[in-house]
Amino acid sequence: MEQRECCSELRLRVTELETVLEVGRQITATLDSERIMDGVIDACKGAVKAEAGTLWILEEDAYLVPLAVRGPKADRLKGLRLKRGEGLAGQVCESQEPVFIEDVTSDERWASRFDDATGFVTRSMMVVPLFTDDRAIGSLQLINKLDGSLFDESDLRISMALAAVSAKTIVNSRNYTQQRRFLDTLLKLMASLLDARDQYTLGHSERVSRHAVLIAQGLGLGLDEQDVIERAALLHDIGKVSIPEDVLTADPLDAKAWEQIKKHPDLGADLLLQLEPKSMVRQLWAGALYHHERFDGNGYPVGLNGTDIPLVARIIAVADAFDNLVSQQRYGMSKGIEEALEEIEQCSGTYFDPGIVDVFVGAVRARRVSKA
Ligand SMILES: [Fe+2]
Repeated sequence: MEQRECCSELRLRVTELETVLEVGRQITATLDSERIMDGVIDACKGAVKAEAGTLWILEEDAYLVPLAVRGPKADRLKGLRLKRGEGLAGQVCESQEPVFIEDVTSDERWASRFDDATGFVTRSMMVVPLFTDDRAIGSLQLINKLDGSLFDESDLRISMALAAVSAKTIVNSRNYTQQRRFLDTLLKLMASLLDARDQYTLGHSERVSRHAVLIAQGLGLGLDEQDVIERAALLHDIGKVSIPEDVLTADPLDAKAWEQIKKHPDLGADLLLQLEPKSMVRQLWAGALYHHERFDGNGYPVGLNGTDIPLVARIIAVADAFDNLVSQQRYGMSKGIEEALEEIEQCSGTYFDPGIVDVFVGAVRARRVSKA
């Protein structure tokens, strides 16, 4: 090989390596599996300048689904499933060997059913396997060079390398997302069982969590903080699980029953202290313990005031009160939304943090206007 050819080959390999490193850096910047898969397909499509691309992922070890699709006919793939081994994507996933069809017009492996059905014209295609520790997880399909030329060996090398660096991240992020989903649904189930002990509180904790997230968003808190506040709000009344049902539902509520109910913040905080890891419990604990504190210091169980009350508890206090005003009918006190908002505003600075009241009332009114 002449020196000039050698240099240009070297430059090509360096560019390929830089592309792979950059994509690797981008896709490890988040844990969200959808964003990672979108990032992988965009990066791969961009790296080989493809017209279209599909990330096929093996689900339940039985079929492939297109979880990230790009290209002119992308929406035609929505809802499609391939059995293991079906189509080129399925074959590549099974064999863990890439398929490189430089020119589909001269290759018998190419079946043009999709093109016939959509009007899309496939000229050149690569399908590379996604696998980790010899376990197939899917395949990555790239179609047509944007400039009208055909894919070459360098494009295949880049695609293979990108698939290799992406596979483990995709698996880890999907596991993480599924674990989170399981945890979130478990917390909602726990909260709904708690609320169901009293017919007047059905759905209360989940509604409070939605209001609390609205406030967290309005305060400009990050996604992680919003998640913690959502969970803390779901569990804010968890201490009521230790209070007998006849006390919870006492009507009218006498002084003795009230004294017992007032213990639920302490009881809930004690329960939550059993969770691990402690770093994830602190906010849940604070939400349960302090959500009946008042901004003017006249709340319970401690009598904290102002910003000594943790933010999570100040948020839940407003969300909780609003849902009690709007949804609870035990004492015939259910109010309309505007009436409830006005009552919350009247308690700004005494019961509630004025900044949080402003954010919540503003957000609810804005939503009502946009829906009208
Ligand atoms: Fe409470």
